[in-house]
Amino acid sequence: MSSTDTRLRTLLAPVEADLEVVQAELGEMLRGSEPALREMLAHLTRFQGKRLRAGLVLLCGRASGNESAELPQVAAIVEAIHLATLVHDDVLDGADVRRRVASVNRRWDNQSAVLLGDLLYARAFDRSTRLRSRLASQVLSEATQTICRGEIVQAASRYDFEMEPSRYEAIAGAKTAALYGAACDLGARYPDEGRGPGELLSGFGWRMGLAFQIVDDVLDVIGDAEVVGKSVGNDVEDGKVTLPVLHVYAHAEPAIREAIRDAYTAPRWSGERAARLRQACDLGPGVEHALERARTLVEEARERLVTLPETAARYTLEQLGDYVLERKW
Ligand code: IPE
Ligand code: IPE
Ligand code: MG
Ligand code: MG
Repeated sequence: MSSTDTRLRTLLAPVEADLEVVQAELGEMLRGSEPALREMLAHLTRFQGKRLRAGLVLLCGRASGNESAELPQVAAIVEAIHLATLVHDDVLDGADVRRRVASVNRRWDNQSAVLLGDLLYARAFDRSTRLRSRLASQVLSEATQTICRGEIVQAASRYDFEMEPSRYEAIAGAKTAALYGAACDLGARYPDEGRGPGELLSGFGWRMGLAFQIVDDVLDVIGDAEVVGKSVGNDVEDGKVTLPVLHVYAHAEPAIREAIRDAYTAPRWSGERAARLRQACDLGPGVEHALERARTLVEEARERLVTLPETAARYTLEQLGDYVLERKW
């Protein structure tokens, strides 16, 4: 087990009992009667992710004094939606590995993965309609639409080496920060629309989520697939020009720019584009720039916590910022 594993487990320890409930709820959502479906759902059940978004629902609930007994259910719905986005995202990205095992599209095929993702979304929203309040349905349907828009805009922006950083952040934000924001917002407010520091914590979550995606994009270009536990180098293979590369490209001489474009596009590099990119330029300054931006976002996120009571949950939320910045998987 890597040290970040242990670290995350320690950070989430205060909400571990509720996370067990989340796991059981998720298990319910991943039940299937038909043998073919049962096997696919079992594949998803066996391999857990970080449960960070569920953890954020629960921790933001505690940090804002929200005593709703339904928060673990809300957290499970958030994780199910996240899982659906991953199953679909791996189809979009042609990724082979997810959560250290074969992605659904690799183990089965694209058609099955699309349908399984659809099923997960439907189950998650079905679950949300059974909650006492409509707030989770409202917030999460909004976030899901934002994620889809993010993936669509990202697909339309492939090979855009001169993308404005603000456009990159809008895409990364929509893909990832929206669900983080929704998780924190629901933790603070559910079931009551007008309750508590929802806006404050959704802003906290948005910044944490954006930092998380920036670090993810760094790991995609320089990370080790064994450690990260999922396919890496896919962004380069698929023409996704992420923050570290945009920064290097913006400051590069014409010959280096040409070499970067070549790494992304020349047929001969197919399957080894990320390695080629690392040879074509020094990614170091781009990585440092991206991590600096992630650090700033985490700082801004933490500033949003200062008016909350000084609870253990608030302290954990503060610590999660360092985890997001330093994670290796
Ligand atoms: C992966 O998120 C998708 C991104 C937003 C980069 P996580 O890294 O939180 O995925 P799991 O749930 O731990 O597998
Ligand atoms: C995050 O983007 C995708 C979702 C929000 C589903 P990535 O494509 O970078 O995520 P990974 O790297 O495959 O987990
Ligand atoms: Mg992906
Ligand atoms: Mg990624």
